[in-house]
Amino acid sequence: MTHAPAIEIKNLTKTYAKSKKAPAKHALKGVDLTIPRGSIFGLLGPNGAGKSTLINILAGLVNKGDGEVKICGYDVQSQTRQARASIGIVPQEIAMDVFFTPFQALELQAGYYGVPKAKRRSEEILSALGLLDKRDAYVRQLSGGMKRRLLIAKALVHNPPVLILDEPTAGVDIELRRQLWDYVQELHARGTTIILTTHYLEEAESLCDQIAIMHHGEIVANESKTSLMSRLDKRTLVITPTEPIKALPQELSGLEANISETGQIAITYRSGTDSISGLLAQVKSAGLSILDLRTEEPDLEDVFLSLTYAQDA
Ligand SMILES: Nc1ncnc2c1ncn2[C@@H]1O[C@H](COP(=O)(O)OP(=O)(O)O)[C@@H](O)[C@H]1O
Ligand SMILES: [Mg+2]
Repeated sequence: MTHAPAIEIKNLTKTYAKSKKAPAKHALKGVDLTIPRGSIFGLLGPNGAGKSTLINILAGLVNKGDGEVKICGYDVQSQTRQARASIGIVPQEIAMDVFFTPFQALELQAGYYGVPKAKRRSEEILSALGLLDKRDAYVRQLSGGMKRRLLIAKALVHNPPVLILDEPTAGVDIELRRQLWDYVQELHARGTTIILTTHYLEEAESLCDQIAIMHHGEIVANESKTSLMSRLDKRTLVITPTEPIKALPQELSGLEANISETGQIAITYRSGTDSISGLLAQVKSAGLSILDLRTEEPDLEDVFLSLTYAQDA
């Protein structure tokens, strides 16, 4: 079903049953989500939002409640085999059998997916992830970063059209992160749909073309990165006065403004309603002369906060 979306989720719910320690938890409260083929899709949200629950349902690791979940057009419940074959999942937790070597781990995984010997690419995948020299080392001897790369390698053995990475760079150093993203982008360029959760917002901002934000088990936004960023019409006008100032002049007390340590003024305004020329006129009539000025756009973090934490406040 090459024309079906990568992921199609309709009114998905999930309730974890209550236990001795915790009451029942409504982790997903009717999620609708369609992820087109060919995207690099970011699923963001604070801890506990339900991201891993959603991904584990896609992976077949957690049973869904109500609703419909399709991967490349295949229903996870009635077409389990095809659905699983369509997806590779890199889980958030590193849990691996440490008694195998990376090569054996990949061969086992390939066997599990029914990839015939002639079609296996274990060495190629190890090499792509910089693990070929660890081919025959024991997994328990690998560093944390190497284990993470091995998890990605395992998710790729059956050449899935959709790859999902759940917090793949948590606790991974910058250099390795860059390597991982280079490789993920290469897979994407070769046609793999990429879905990732991350709480590094800069990462999502630089990598993803489409972003959904989850909060308390619901999708609160789902759009292109550009449209998401333009949601906030908040801008900041940063003015450097000829003479650095220490306090906000009385005449400007009606503005939402801050003075920096270096004596600049940062004025927050709404691009839809406030005019820059009006603001500048106010600044001048307060007796300040302007040496330099610039405007700052909101970043993904601002949008994220406005859609999540600000709602709770
Ligand atoms: N196996 C489980 N049993 C009970 N509650 C769970 C289980 N897994 C997750 N939860 C709860 O479901 C909610 C969503 O968790 P999770 O999907 O892991 O969120 P995220 O990945 O966005 O941090 C949280 O409140 C979490 O405590
Ligand atoms: Mg998670």
